[in-house]
Amino acid sequence: MIIYKTDEQVELMRQSALLVSKTLSVIAGTLKTGITTLSIDKMIGEFIRDHQAVPSFLNYNGYPFNSCISVNDVVVHGFPGKYELKEGDIISIDIGVILNGWHGDHAYTFAIGNPGNAVMELIRVTKESLYKGIEKAVAGNRIGDIAFAIQEYTEKKHGYGVVRELVGHGLGKNLHEDPQVPNYGKRGSGTKLKEGMVLAIEPMINLGDRRVYTEDDGWTVRTKDGKPSVHFEHDVCVRKGRADILSDYSIIESAELANPELYTEKKNETAVAG
Ligand code: MF3
Ligand code: CO
Repeated sequence: MIIYKTDEQVELMRQSALLVSKTLSVIAGTLKTGITTLSIDKMIGEFIRDHQAVPSFLNYNGYPFNSCISVNDVVVHGFPGKYELKEGDIISIDIGVILNGWHGDHAYTFAIGNPGNAVMELIRVTKESLYKGIEKAVAGNRIGDIAFAIQEYTEKKHGYGVVRELVGHGLGKNLHEDPQVPNYGKRGSGTKLKEGMVLAIEPMINLGDRRVYTEDDGWTVRTKDGKPSVHFEHDVCVRKGRADILSDYSIIESAELANPELYTEKKNETAVAG
């Protein structure tokens, strides 16, 4: 059952999504080689609780941490732990909050130092594919239009592996609501999009083969071929003509650019130009 949101509810959800964006931007300023992923998770939990919210992933279906931190070949749902970030790692940080009863849930992938051109391109293309999907999140289209746009750009155009086992989702008073939002599918297929639908769109794209497996911990999803995987997620509200993106990457990107430990293609361009 799809639960449509009123304009007032969408504004509350924007606050929830923005709290996740703010958390990610603060974390972006602290990322560097040598820190453990568990220390990042602790900061995330503290920041969220300092802002009158709770981390929604903690205890969700028994999930034992505040956030999901997925490094290199971990696709999603990585456990924070003793692992220390090193030069050339890529790290997806996925955060959920409940603020005033409403969920925010989104994710961003960072490069610690330079992981090389192939991986930087995977990061760029995955982020671009998210926006290509969002362009289709308008009233009158169908879920398959979002799915097709993401798959077409990542798989067909760039030859990457689109993860099939995990999908995006509706978002509201619950972390996972209908409809499911796959990153692969047929144009014009699936549920019709209507104003007031709030969706978490989240491409999970592999540099190599699309196949994944879940570790014995029951959560950590890894690529079968051991190659890296990238994950970006936005919360969007379906509207007529143009989707309303509730989360905000601009503050995360500013923090990313300001942190000399993080690599972005923009910095590369500046370096070449300068
Ligand atoms: N963004 C992920 C999702 O939508 C995060 C969920 S992790 C969990 O499924 F721990 F909460 F399950
Ligand atoms: Co999600």
